[in-house]
Amino acid sequence: MATATPAIRLDENVTRYISKPRQMLINGKWVDAASGKTFPSYNPATGDILARVAEGDREDIDRAVAAARAAFDSGPWSKMTPSERGRIIWKLADLIEKHGEELAQLESLDNGKPLAIARIADIPGTVDMFRYMAGWATKIEGNTIPISAYGAKYLAFTLREPVGVVGQIIPWNFPLMMASWKLGPALATGCTVVLKPAEQTPLSALRLGELIQEAGIPDGVVNIVPGFGETAGAALTAHPKVDKIAFTGSTEVGKLIVQAAAGNLKKVSLELGGKSPNIVFNDSDVEAAIPGAALAIFFNHGQCCCAGSRLYVEEKVFDKVVDGVSQLASKIRIGAGIEPTTDMGPLVSEEQLTRVCGYLESGYSEGAKAVVGGSRHGDKGYFVKPTVLVNTNEKMKVVREEIFGPVVTATPFKDADDLIAKANDTVYGLASGVWTRDIAKAHRVASQLRAGTVWINCYNVFDPAMPFGGYKQSGWGREMGHEVLNLYTECKSVCTPIA
Ligand code: NAI
Ligand code: MG
Repeated sequence: MATATPAIRLDENVTRYISKPRQMLINGKWVDAASGKTFPSYNPATGDILARVAEGDREDIDRAVAAARAAFDSGPWSKMTPSERGRIIWKLADLIEKHGEELAQLESLDNGKPLAIARIADIPGTVDMFRYMAGWATKIEGNTIPISAYGAKYLAFTLREPVGVVGQIIPWNFPLMMASWKLGPALATGCTVVLKPAEQTPLSALRLGELIQEAGIPDGVVNIVPGFGETAGAALTAHPKVDKIAFTGSTEVGKLIVQAAAGNLKKVSLELGGKSPNIVFNDSDVEAAIPGAALAIFFNHGQCCCAGSRLYVEEKVFDKVVDGVSQLASKIRIGAGIEPTTDMGPLVSEEQLTRVCGYLESGYSEGAKAVVGGSRHGDKGYFVKPTVLVNTNEKMKVVREEIFGPVVTATPFKDADDLIAKANDTVYGLASGVWTRDIAKAHRVASQLRAGTVWINCYNVFDPAMPFGGYKQSGWGREMGHEVLNLYTECKSVCTPIA
C-alpha cells in the first residue's frame, strides 16, 4: 500500500510494516480489533494511505486493561528484581538503537518529519530515555523518618511502590519519543501499561511493541492499542481498573481527561499545549539569537508543545532579528520528509493544515502581516511555508492561541517590566527562551517567567535527566528526571514502635 517512491532505499522491516494491516499488542499476542475494523494511517507528504492499522475500541481496551491488571497483580513483572527490570529496559534501548534506521524511516513516512531529524533527534532521544530510566530501576528509594509521636520510639520509613496499571495516551509530533517518555518511567517503577498511540502516527509504537517482546518484557506488561481518541482513548481514560492516566496532547483534551478520570479518581499527569515566549534583548549575541529563534519555531515544523511561537525582541535589534529569522525561513527546503534534500516536511494531517491556515487567515483579518511565508506550500500534501508574522498585538488569536505550525509572531518591546507582563499574559506556561549577555538580567527574567522550562541563550535543549512540564494550563506534573518517578509511584509510610 506504500505510495511514496522515496529516493532512499527503504529498510526491509519498513516495507514489511506498510505492506499489510498492523495488529495490536494485547497480553503478548498480536491481534485484530474485536470489531475487525482497521483505519488508515496516511503519508502526509502525499495524502495517500501509508498503512492500515487495527482500530481499537472499548472491547480491546477492556482486554488490554485486564492483561495489564493481571501482569501487575500476579505476573512475573512485580516479582522481578529491580536489577532484572533495569537490564531488560537497557536491552530494549539497545534494540531500538540497532533498529534505529528502520524506526527513523517509519517515523518520517508516518509523521512527515525529515529523516535526518528522526535520525538525530527522535531515535537517539528515545534510546537515551530508556537508558536513563533503566538506571533508575535500582535507585527508587524511600526515606527513614525520625518521628516524635506520643513521645515514644518508632522506626518509620517510606516505600515507593508502583502506582499500578497506567493508561498512556500520546500525540503524533514525536511518536516514538513520546512513547519512551511514557513507557520508560512506567517500566522503571514496575508499573504495567496500556499505551494508545495517536491515530495519525501509530506505526513506530507498534514496531516498538515487537522490540519490547524481543527485549524480554513479559506478556501483558506493555499492551499497545491503536485507535481514535474519542473511542479507545476515552475508554482507557474512564476505565475503572486503570490506576493512572498519563497524557500528552491538547489542553482541550487534557480537560476531558481530567473529567473522565474522576470516576475512580485515578491519578492524572498531563503535558499539554504552550505559547512559549522567546525573548531577545538588545545586549544579546544577535548572531546566535537569530538561528536560535528560527530553531525555536521551525524545528519539527512548529509542531512542538514548547515551540518558541511568540518572539519578543527589544526595539533596537527588532528589525535585524526579524530580518535574520525571515532570511533563514526563506532558505528552508520544503519537501517529503523521506527525501534527503528536505529541511522541513509536511504538517502531520489535513486537519492540522486546515487549522494552521485558519490561524494565518485570522491573523491577516486582525491586521497581522507575513514578512516571509504566510500560506500553504503546493497543493498536494500538507505543507505550510515557514512564516514570520509582524504587526501583531496581545489581543490577536495568533498571539494567544497555540498554532502548532511553523508560524511565529514577532513583537517589539521597550522595557523589561512591560515585557514580563506580556510574556506571562497567557493561559499556558510550558517553556520560554531568554537571549542576553547580561547574566544577572538573564536569571532575573528566568525567575519572573511563569513557565516550566527557561532556556537561556539556547532553545529546545532536552535531556532525560532534566524535568519537563508546564505551569498553568500547560499541564500537571513533570516528565523526565527523577521528578517523573513521583508520578508513577505511591508513597507508603510504614511505622512500628521499637521500644
Ligand atoms: P489531541 O489532544 O486530540 O490528541 C492527542 C492524543 O489524545 C491522541 O492520541 C488522541 O487520540 C487522544 N485523544 C483525543 N481525544 C481524546 C479523548 N476524548 N479521550 C482520550 N484521548 C483522546 O490533539 P490533536 O487533535 O491531534 O491536535 C490538536 C492540537 O492539540 C494541536 O494543534 C496542538 O495545538 C495540540 N497538541 C499538542 C501536543 C503537545 O505535544 N502538547 C501534541 C499534539 C497536539
Ligand atoms: Mg483531536
